[in-house]
Amino acid sequence: RVPTVGIDIGGTKVAAGVVDADGVILERLRTETPDKSKSPRVVEDTIVELVLDLADRHDVHAVGIGAAGWVDADRSRVLFAPHLSWRDEPLRDALSTRLAVPVMVDNDANTAAWAEWRFGAGRGEDHLVMITLGTGIGGAILEDGQVKRGRYGVAGEFGHMQVVPGGHRCPCGNRGCWEQYSSGNALVREARELAAADSPVAHTIVERVGGRIGEITGPLITELAREGDAMCVELLQDIGQWLGVGIANLAAALDPACFVIGGGVSAADDLLIGPARDAFRRHLTGRGYRPEARIVKAELGNDAGLVGAADLSRLIARRFVRAK
Ligand code: BGC
Ligand code: NA
Ligand code: ZN
Repeated sequence: RVPTVGIDIGGTKVAAGVVDADGVILERLRTETPDKSKSPRVVEDTIVELVLDLADRHDVHAVGIGAAGWVDADRSRVLFAPHLSWRDEPLRDALSTRLAVPVMVDNDANTAAWAEWRFGAGRGEDHLVMITLGTGIGGAILEDGQVKRGRYGVAGEFGHMQVVPGGHRCPCGNRGCWEQYSSGNALVREARELAAADSPVAHTIVERVGGRIGEITGPLITELAREGDAMCVELLQDIGQWLGVGIANLAAALDPACFVIGGGVSAADDLLIGPARDAFRRHLTGRGYRPEARIVKAELGNDAGLVGAADLSRLIARRFVRAK
């Protein structure tokens, strides 16, 4: 029942935590994700620093990484990451050499889904789909307690399904990807556009950032929406509607019992999930003639990725100890 370390590497933040066998975070650290223009080695250094810092105060037996990218079938290399500099990066071996403990690497949404299934909103669900709304959209399919990875490890990349032909350019190289319309980045892009256009609906938010439009963030938009700011409520509605449309498509393909919505933007609660449920019901194929999946908010919130990564690494820690 030894604690392990989980690390969630997203497009903007790196979160690290020591997690016990019940999924409880004993200590956490947080830092910015190194700029995408920096070499992959810089992200690796960030991870090593965080783990060593935690290891000063805790006995670390394994490290689990939830990475915002496409992890191969061996869960050893990050093949590609739209929001990070990794390209065919041998992350697991590089880290286990530097840290001298067993390291598990998986996609961030996969680790989040695992955490929600073990400890959160997905407990007891045999057919669960996880959607995380952060910098991009993360996805995971969990059936009978197993993450479905596809043949090459990269199943569940829902964020890059095309929803708008010829739409916004995505860092994956395509246009019109779902995550360009329903994510933290999409939310911030729309708010900044309205602010830059000097739209009267944007006055409150522009005032709040003292005119520095670049300082408009997702959490600020959510905060203002809660206070009733019309523009921010509307932007979350737009994101929520796109979320519902995408979920209806996923229901057509995968037919789960439950969709768990996590990631930073899920903090907006019903301001996001309400419009998502409405759009889901309007777009679900065969509506009225089939059972409807539930759409629920992640219980572990933005911690799911790191908690799941830590928990998954516990399995390899055990194997490692036995081998010794
Ligand atoms: C990436 C996924 C990742 C998601 C959330 C997407 O852009 O393609 O691999 O899970 O962002 O971080
Ligand atoms: Na995934
Ligand atoms: Zn894309």
